[in-house]
Amino acid sequence: MLRVENISVRCGVATTLQDVSFSLGSGRALAVVGESGAGKSTLIGAILGLVPCASGQISWHGAPVCQCHPALVMQEPRAAFNPRLSLRRSVMEPVVAQKMQPDLNRLDQLCQGLELDTGLLDRHPSEVSIGQAQRVGILRALIAAPPLVLFDEPLSALDAVTQKHTARLIAQMQMQEGFAALIVTHDLGYAAAFADDIAVLRAGQVAEYGAAHAFVAAPQTAYGRKLRDAAFALGALEHVA
Ligand SMILES: Nc1ncnc2c1ncn2[C@@H]1O[C@H](COP(=O)(O)OP(=O)(O)OP(=O)(O)O)[C@@H](O)[C@H]1O
Ligand SMILES: [Mg+2]
Repeated sequence: MLRVENISVRCGVATTLQDVSFSLGSGRALAVVGESGAGKSTLIGAILGLVPCASGQISWHGAPVCQCHPALVMQEPRAAFNPRLSLRRSVMEPVVAQKMQPDLNRLDQLCQGLELDTGLLDRHPSEVSIGQAQRVGILRALIAAPPLVLFDEPLSALDAVTQKHTARLIAQMQMQEGFAALIVTHDLGYAAAFADDIAVLRAGQVAEYGAAHAFVAAPQTAYGRKLRDAAFALGALEHVA
């Protein structure tokens, strides 16, 4: 289980995260929602050990998170790859970094699950569509079978049809692979459809945290209600309500 306990992060004099706590069980999905600047990416950085915490603790099954080799799926699919490397080289980087034996069956299987033609991997990042690049990003995240995968706005660079397709594939891959997923998203409809739990981050603090269906049915705070009602107004929650 991922445990985030009372963490605070400071950037200069500003506090970007304050007393943030939540947990995420193996194989479960947690969505972190909140407006721009709320601290969502900072939170991912803190979990990955890239952003130092002023206080608090983060652990995976009682050990430092880095020991479980968590994977990250980034928002900008093409920017996530070295433009000079073939996608295949980039995809295999986690396997090389962790000194694992390359498993071509696993690569084929994951490509199939992500509806990716393996021939695509011989191209460079600029030679595939954004939607394909994001699925290759997910492939790279999953290749070394991490128990924990962090997604920072994985759909926001994609068009509406590609968003739905990619969201469905992420959900299928999570069922198949059983990783714990932490998904940062602006999209409350997606959060409610995909995640078991939702944490609402506001100005660096957890404003609301609990089961996704309970949040959608009855937010506990005025801010939570405002977010939920705004999503309803956009039609974003129609498919989950
Ligand atoms: N390196 C930094 N130095 C100073 N302040 C920073 C730094 N990185 C982020 N911040 C500040 O921390 C706050 C949280 O930023 P963060 O990027 O985590 O927000 P976010 O919720 O991911 O927003 P978005 O939805 O726009 O991606 C913001 O006020 C931001 O200006
Ligand atoms: Mg961000």
